[in-house]
Amino acid sequence: MYESYYGFKSKPFQLTPDPAFFFASKLHKRAISYLQYGLSQAEGFIVITGGVGTGKTTIANSLLADLQQDIVAAQIVTPKLSPDELVKMVGSRFGINVAGKSKADIIGELEKYLYSLSGQGRRALLLVDEAQNLPLEAIEELRMLSNFQHAGKPLLQSFLLGQQELQPILRAPNMEQFRQRIVASCHLQPLNAEEVQAYIEFRLAQAGRSGSALFTEAAYEVIFDFSKGIPRKVNTLLDRALLFGYLEDITVFEGSAITQVVEEINSEMFIADDTGVEDEPDYAPGQTAPYGFTTRNGKTITEIDYYKDMLGELVDALDDVIVHKVKLTQHIDKVMKKKYQDYMQLKSESADKEDTEVPREDELSSR
Ligand SMILES: Nc1ncnc2c1ncn2[C@@H]1O[C@H](COP(=O)(O)OP(=O)(O)O)[C@@H](O)[C@H]1O
Ligand SMILES: [Mg+2]
Repeated sequence: MYESYYGFKSKPFQLTPDPAFFFASKLHKRAISYLQYGLSQAEGFIVITGGVGTGKTTIANSLLADLQQDIVAAQIVTPKLSPDELVKMVGSRFGINVAGKSKADIIGELEKYLYSLSGQGRRALLLVDEAQNLPLEAIEELRMLSNFQHAGKPLLQSFLLGQQELQPILRAPNMEQFRQRIVASCHLQPLNAEEVQAYIEFRLAQAGRSGSALFTEAAYEVIFDFSKGIPRKVNTLLDRALLFGYLEDITVFEGSAITQVVEEINSEMFIADDTGVEDEPDYAPGQTAPYGFTTRNGKTITEIDYYKDMLGELVDALDDVIVHKVKLTQHIDKVMKKKYQDYMQLKSESADKEDTEVPREDELSSR
């Protein structure tokens, strides 16, 4: 409705996770590096946790969008599933006809399917979204599925995406075996004020907007206060604000216009007025509290900025290490593939010679 009024080719703040609108904040970039690293390991579990709307599904989709062709991905979004239902769902997502079949039958067929993929030099990836809903037994079932192997190579890798509640589930004492199979994990935090502005500008540009600024500094502040840096909340607010602006003939959004929209949304959602009683301290993110930080043992640390900078540098350095590791593993992967092809070629050549040697296929196919 408002698209042409503001010069957009498409809606800039749609809620569907669209890889074309993927904004690579520092944290999102790091999460992608972890995932790529995990993918290059080709086994086990990769876990992403984060609050509602922080971008877990978006990240997974953008990774799937540029997945190599040798990976067959299947995605499930889980309501509370029993182990049986989970196996059924996984089977059907990989194209197996599960109607009327027992769990054991489906597992058997799934194994055959994964085995045949492996024979074609391909492998399978299972993406489980909203995994915090899975009961422990269903997670355990996933772990069993990840045990399938062919010639020592795992046949199925899984990504688990979930809200914070997934963390205590995975930390449970009886999940030790599962934990040992996690190859990479990360937790998505909300964006900071600067990133929220960059996120908004990026999405506006992706939607085709060019030219003068649409939001004032004050508007950006209100947006950050409302959204607390959660992309989904930014989207909901701004989609609404653009409609409001179109109806009210607003070409540049001041803080007051956004505040009006926030008030409308709050009154519809029955959100109480911000009295600030139990609120977070009232200083912008990234800024240090005027007083020090008190640890659990009662020690007061006053040089917070110093420690923050130091940790920031450490995190950057570790990020670089991860990026290098990803590149290295990708390189090793390529070299190994090449070696494997050479090996297969040599093998077929020697078979052609019809030597007296007995074929060893039976040995290779035992799992
Ligand atoms: N890095 C990002 N780049 C672009 N859009 C994002 C990003 N992170 C989140 N979003 C947007 O925020 C909304 C919520 O993201 P989503 O991935 O569904 O969150 P989650 O799965 O963590 O609940 C979506 O509309 C998505 O478009
Ligand atoms: Mg999601």
